[in-house]
Amino acid sequence: MSFPTNRPRRLRGSASMRKMMRETEIGVGRLIYPMFVTHGTGVRKDISAMPGCAQLSIDLLIKEAAQVYEAGVPGVILFGIPKMKDAVGSEGYHPDGIVPMAISALKKELPELQVWSDVCLCEYTDHGHCGVIVDGEVDNDATLPLLTRAAVVYAQAGADIIAPSDMMDGRVGAIRKGLDGAGFSHLPIVSYAAKYASAFYGPFREAAQSAPQFGDRRGYQMDPANAREALREVALDLEEGADIVMVKPALPYLDVIRRVKEEFNVPVAAYNVSGEFAMVKAAAEMGWIDHDRVAAEILLSIRRAGADIILTYFAKDAARLLKEMGS
Ligand code: PBG
Repeated sequence: MSFPTNRPRRLRGSASMRKMMRETEIGVGRLIYPMFVTHGTGVRKDISAMPGCAQLSIDLLIKEAAQVYEAGVPGVILFGIPKMKDAVGSEGYHPDGIVPMAISALKKELPELQVWSDVCLCEYTDHGHCGVIVDGEVDNDATLPLLTRAAVVYAQAGADIIAPSDMMDGRVGAIRKGLDGAGFSHLPIVSYAAKYASAFYGPFREAAQSAPQFGDRRGYQMDPANAREALREVALDLEEGADIVMVKPALPYLDVIRRVKEEFNVPVAAYNVSGEFAMVKAAAEMGWIDHDRVAAEILLSIRRAGADIILTYFAKDAARLLKEMGS
């Protein structure tokens, strides 16, 4: 039966009808806010391509995290800017490094806030790669113990979730073993399972000062052309003990989010990355799009594709954006 018997517009006739018929909500409780933490006090260094985001010293980080938490966002994920970078990324796994200090300060001031800790070496290495270099190549197996050390140090500082983003093979298993051995078998791992070698990370690399100084990340991050391979990465990470799997970036990979969601019965996170954020900011700045409506529509699309959790720089504006979507 079709028109005129069938009229889908009947269910769109009023705001309250539309509200009742909504299939997907963003849900501020499903957003995680990424933050950049730097040494010093009273330091706020704005990130030009990410308006509203800044490298913050711990005192200001706490203030901003408190506001984000007040708005209903359950957690933050931390990226550190070290004092010094070296070939093996030492500050990344030093107990007095910037991230462990920030974790313990946040947990002390805001015990209810979930603190996710990204685990990767690229912010801490002078060459900017996510692992150690042996004979000009990122050496997978030599990197695993360092990532494991970092995870344990963050756990000891009080992190609630460990999130390895380096894309070395076997890192989830190595980190799981390390955490269990150190008495943290209860701590969940979110693996950046399907992380693509993406140009959408551009602004982040300015923010975290982590651009590779030679070559690129295509030897360890995934080829944007591949979706089947993402399923393999996810399967391996789950076997190794990942509790939540992530797809990153989000918007250009909605199909991957959907396939992961359908194939595996596990929580899926998606990272709405810096470049996705910067595009919206720039176009809105030019007056070409409506910032709030576009941001909300993007977040909704990521949820609709199947993500349970979204890491997004828009989380700070979440309360306002959710109102925009009428939820
Ligand atoms: C570290 C890491 C990156 C991002 C998150 N963790 C950058 C990269 O892999 O180059 C990107 C996040 C963003 O663009 O917002 N490996």
